[in-house]
Amino acid sequence: MSLLRIHYPWTKAPFLASAPMLGAATPALAASVSKAGGIGFLAGSANSDALDKDLQQVASILAQDRTTKANGSDILPIGLGFQLWGAKLSVAVSAVKKHLPAVVWLFAPSDERQLQEWSRELRTASQEKTKIWIQVGTVQDAKRAVELAAPDVLVLQGSDAGGHGHKRSASTVTLVPEVIDYLASRHGASIPVLAAGGIMDGRGVASAIALGAAGAVMGTRFLAATEAGIAKGWQKELLKATDGGVSTGRSTLPDRLKQTVGWPEHFDGRALLNKGHEDEQAGLSDAENVALYKQELAQGDDSWGAHGRMVTYAGTGVGLVKEIKPAAEIVREVHMSARKATQNAAESLRDSEPHSKL
Ligand SMILES: Cc1cc2nc3c(=O)[nH]c(=O)nc-3n(C[C@H](O)[C@H](O)[C@H](O)COP(=O)(O)O)c2cc1C
Repeated sequence: MSLLRIHYPWTKAPFLASAPMLGAATPALAASVSKAGGIGFLAGSANSDALDKDLQQVASILAQDRTTKANGSDILPIGLGFQLWGAKLSVAVSAVKKHLPAVVWLFAPSDERQLQEWSRELRTASQEKTKIWIQVGTVQDAKRAVELAAPDVLVLQGSDAGGHGHKRSASTVTLVPEVIDYLASRHGASIPVLAAGGIMDGRGVASAIALGAAGAVMGTRFLAATEAGIAKGWQKELLKATDGGVSTGRSTLPDRLKQTVGWPEHFDGRALLNKGHEDEQAGLSDAENVALYKQELAQGDDSWGAHGRMVTYAGTGVGLVKEIKPAAEIVREVHMSARKATQNAAESLRDSEPHSKL
């Protein structure tokens, strides 16, 4: 049995997680994903009351659930993600002590030493029951994360990912095998990796596994779940968008518009391109762009779309998102289609066998 199935016994193959997405990953979404055999994530902020409320809500949804409770442990079968540059360790420690989530996911430290401190404190707070996952976007960061924190899982975020990520980053297709080769050469094969970025369906999950990952993390696909905590206008744009390499782009404009201060310098965010980006290119100042953004924000759902200015985070796989569905259905479909994709790949390899004898 794989290490992941041992640590997270309610999960089914292939191993699938919904990303911690601040503001979008609701308790209902996290609970539905775990109930369906994945592992759902909440995103924690520095607000301890809000986090406690979210965790209590997940606990009450899952209290009666036989599948996730099957192992009889006191672990809350979801994960909890933190963007370290803006989070408070004391908030995370209290949440872990009280709710014992299966995983804490660390991302975007302002100083890499935070990885060491957070993982040490959280392991102590949970008596080693809560596992530590670290999301990184480069081979160098993967090496440092392993050296500093010995994570239980490394999440490898490629450049296709929606939301925040490294300004300079490689595709999942090259990042995953290069990190796996590094881990094998330095640490044996003992740290499982998950692929994130551009994975929208079972084909993406199967390809991540073919690259050597133990499973996948999906963010953008779960933004189009019924339980996602985002505006209807945002969800509509996700369904409309195609050709994500062109319709989305990486930029720090979303942070400047939302006046989010503190992201480490080497991060930006991938979102659907719209009027805000267009005007910036044409020379509009940040002050004017922010003022126009705020006016549109007040108008609610009418302001979304290519001619609008709302920040619409999405990954390059957005063209594969065609329907809003309950999260459990997304998990079931991905599980089934990943198996199908794997069978298809195995068949096409079998078909090619005679050639190898030529
Ligand atoms: C709207 C949105 C919000 C996100 N928020 C977070 C976050 O709070 N913490 C985090 O570690 N990652 C966050 N991410 C990134 C995800 O962890 C993940 O890397 C990404 O969604 C994977 O790529 P995909 O969107 O193509 O599936 C976010 C992604 C999106 C789309």
